[in-house]
This record gives sequence, C-alpha cells and structure tokens, in this order.
Amino acid sequence: MSATQQQVPIAERRPASGHRGLADASLVESLRVLAAGVVPALLRGLFSPRRMAMKILTAVNADGRAVSTLSALRSKYDGDGIRLLGGRIVVLWGAGAIREVLDNSAQTYAADAGAKAKGMSHFQPAALTLSRDEEWRDRRAFTEAVLASSERVHPFARRFLAVVDDEVDRMRIGETLRWRDWERLFDHITLRVVFGDQARCEQRLTALLEKLMRQSNRVVGLRHGDDYYEFYGEVERLLRDPGPESLVARIAGAPQTYTTRVVQQVPHWLFAMRDTLGANAYRALATIVSDAEISERVRLELQGADLSDPDSVDGLRDVEGCLQEAMRLWPTTPLLARETTTETTLSGERLDPGTQVMLLNVFNHRDPDDLPNADRPAPERWQREQRDYRFNHLSNGTQDCPGGPLVLLLGKAAIARLLAEYSLTLEHPRLESGEPLPHMLDFFETRFSVDRRDLP
Ligand code: HEM
Repeated sequence: MSATQQQVPIAERRPASGHRGLADASLVESLRVLAAGVVPALLRGLFSPRRMAMKILTAVNADGRAVSTLSALRSKYDGDGIRLLGGRIVVLWGAGAIREVLDNSAQTYAADAGAKAKGMSHFQPAALTLSRDEEWRDRRAFTEAVLASSERVHPFARRFLAVVDDEVDRMRIGETLRWRDWERLFDHITLRVVFGDQARCEQRLTALLEKLMRQSNRVVGLRHGDDYYEFYGEVERLLRDPGPESLVARIAGAPQTYTTRVVQQVPHWLFAMRDTLGANAYRALATIVSDAEISERVRLELQGADLSDPDSVDGLRDVEGCLQEAMRLWPTTPLLARETTTETTLSGERLDPGTQVMLLNVFNHRDPDDLPNADRPAPERWQREQRDYRFNHLSNGTQDCPGGPLVLLLGKAAIARLLAEYSLTLEHPRLESGEPLPHMLDFFETRFSVDRRDLP
C-alpha cells in the first residue's frame, strides 16, 4: 500500500456493514446500467481520451446520467450493489463490499482480464496492473522501490521540484492558458523526472506511446507492429543512460528478477504522470480559480510556502485537498473492473469464477444519497486520516496506485508554481463560485485567461 493510504478521508456516510447483500437487477435495468456506466467509458477511450467523444459526452452530460441511473437503483435495492445479467456482472456501491474486493485484488479479484487487459497488452503486456499472484508481487515490489511508494516524499523530491520550477519558468503562455500548453509542461516534466534532464526533448517517445494507446482504445484487432518495437527500443536506449536522481536511476537498487520485465513497467509511469496527472492537475486549477473562498485559502497557504522544499510542498494541505477533490469529482479512471479468479463470497453472496466486478467511480464518488455536498468541492474532506474505500480515483487496497505520493508532490508543485507566477481566470467552461460543479469537465476545452503576477 502506498503512503497516500494514510491521507484519505472520511466517515461521512453510514458505516460499512458486513453482509448487506447483492440484489438482482432486471434485464432492462442491467442494460440501463451498462449503457449509462460502461458504454461512455469505452467511447471516451479506455487508454487515451478521444477529444471528440469527450466533447459529445460532456454535451449530453453522460456522467450525470450515470449518477441518476445508479442512484435510482440504489434507492430501490440498497444493499452493497447489484447483479446484472443473471450474475455475470456485479456493480458495487457499499464501502464494505468494495473493500473486500480491493483488499484481495491481484489474487481473488484480478485486473488482468476483460477490455482493459486486451487493450493494455498492446503497449504493455507485462504491466504490473495486468499481473496477479507471484508475478504481481514481484513487479509490485520493484515498482514500489522505484517510486518510493511507502514514503510521503520521494527521496529525489528536491530535484523533481526543481524540474517543475524550471519547466514552469520555460512555459511560453500568452494571454490564454490552454490544454496544449499544460500538456507540453507535463510532457517535459515527465521525461525529466522519469529518465533525467537529457531526455527533455524525447517527444518521439511520448508520441509513440500516445499512438499505441490510441490504437489500444479499439480493444480488438490489435497486434504488435513497428511502433511497438520502436517504442521499446527507445525506452531501452534511455534506460542505458539514467539521469542523476531520475526514477530510472533507482532501478539498479530495486528488487528485480527475470519475472519483473523492467522495461515493461516504464510506460505506466510515463502515461500516468504525463496524461493522467496532467489532466487532474489542470482540473484542480479550474476548481481553485473558479471558487472565491477556495482561491483565497490557497492564496494564503502559498504565501508562506517554499516551493523548492519538499516538506513545504508536502505541507500544502489546501492545494492537496483541491487536487484530491478534482480527482474525486471527475475521476480519470471512471470505473475499476475486476474478475473473480475462483468461486468466492462477496457481501455474503456466492460469486462464480469469471464474474466481472465493477466499481463505477463516476457514481460512487458523487452518490447524492450517501455523500453530503457530493457535487461541491470540499478540500477539507481530505484533511482527516481515514481511508474511504468508496473514493477510488487512486484506488485502495493491495493494488492501489503506487504513484500516489508522486502524484501529490508533482501535482501540488505544478499547481502552486503556476498560481505563484500567474493570475488565472477560468474562461471556459463557466463555473459559478460556490455552486455545485458539473458532472463533467472536459480538460481539452478548458482554458484560462492569464495575467503574469508582478514578482519581486
Ligand atoms: C493523477 C494521477 C494518477 C491517477 C489518478 C492514478 C490512478 C490509478 C488507479 C485508479 C490505479 C488502479 C487501477 C486499477 O486497479 O484498475 C492505479 C494503479 C497504478 N498506478 Fe496510478 N494514477 C496516477 C498516477 C500514477 C503515477 C504518476 C504513476 C507512476 C509514476 C502511477 C503508477 C501506477 C501503477 C504502476 C499502477 C498499477 C498498480 C498495481 O496494479 O499494483 N500512477 N493508478
């Protein structure tokens, strides 16, 4: 488990009970849940978000519809969740049942099946996240050692903060900050943090990964071709020359065997830092600058901060709460899927091997009946030291995100550094201060008008 495990919220909802059961949804209800909760995730792109699909899904408020559909079923059945299509699929909302699944992830509940595994195998067939049992333990130990998952602050944090500082300095923003500016910022940060400063301009590598991930969205008809071999050739070249205090510089000291497949673990660090963290931090910026009260709290917090000091950045609890809230409100992993590897019981009910178990984050994070002020940003939710298994933007349990501490460090640093240098106003979309936030925030279309602050 990563250090972010200690950093999570709440017990605002009813306590997780032991055996609250799984109700059987009718065929019509089953199809409705799949249409509202699963189809949009596939259309959006499981691996690389599709710009046009995102625009359309936002226009029709697809995630808002998912919340209404699931909310109606939850009111009808309560319990820990529902069985769809005669029990082939289970959708969970009860915190206790979600915990049962996530605490036994990579064993009884494996993530290496279904559409995710098919698509991800196209660019990362030996990924940690697609592993189970002994293979998973081997790759997990390696990954945790490189990412320093059990430490709140990575041992190379000081250099990583210097990279963020330098990259924000080098940004050429005009009067408007757009997604492509932010994406470029995270492209450079990622290449330098993962491989070292000499890799700053290896955009061929990130472009190849993006291309492979776009292809993976298809899920079917995939095979390894020239792009795959060229991509791994490039990764191997960069691994031969690790920059000082980069992530790959830690590989030599990390536990590894033939099973680890070191090179295959690197792509996850790249896309999760560049794309996933980039999108979440951008949404957090929008959340901060559009809310007068939060904006003021963050401004006061940043007044005393030294953004070159890892402990100071670690202590930015308001900025951290805003990043966590952006991830909760608009989870970049809209659903987590697992498959039972053996017959088991869940919430007191028997499940066959091969049952698909789904956690619909877009619903669970915004369940209006169970979470006070579900649609409002409340950074203070994240100040308490208790985990809530219903919030899974970084997942929980055995297979939680081992990059959690890095996410918080780099995300907070980038947000704080940008706010220290620029005064931003959210131009699009319009979010009203103090009002409930929309169910979808299309980061591709989000833009800010920018004024440079007069720095001393
Ligand atoms: C805001 C950014 C990020 C978010 C929202 C995020 C979210 C997640 C989630 C939800 C999972 C569980 C997926 C599943 O079980 O299906 C996961 C797993 C993982 N994440 Fe992250 N992640 C982020 C950034 C990172 C970074 C920066 C790294 C590495 C540098 C990373 C490395 C991993 C790895 C290796 C796994 C697989 C863990 C396992 O299967 O044991 N993530 N992440």
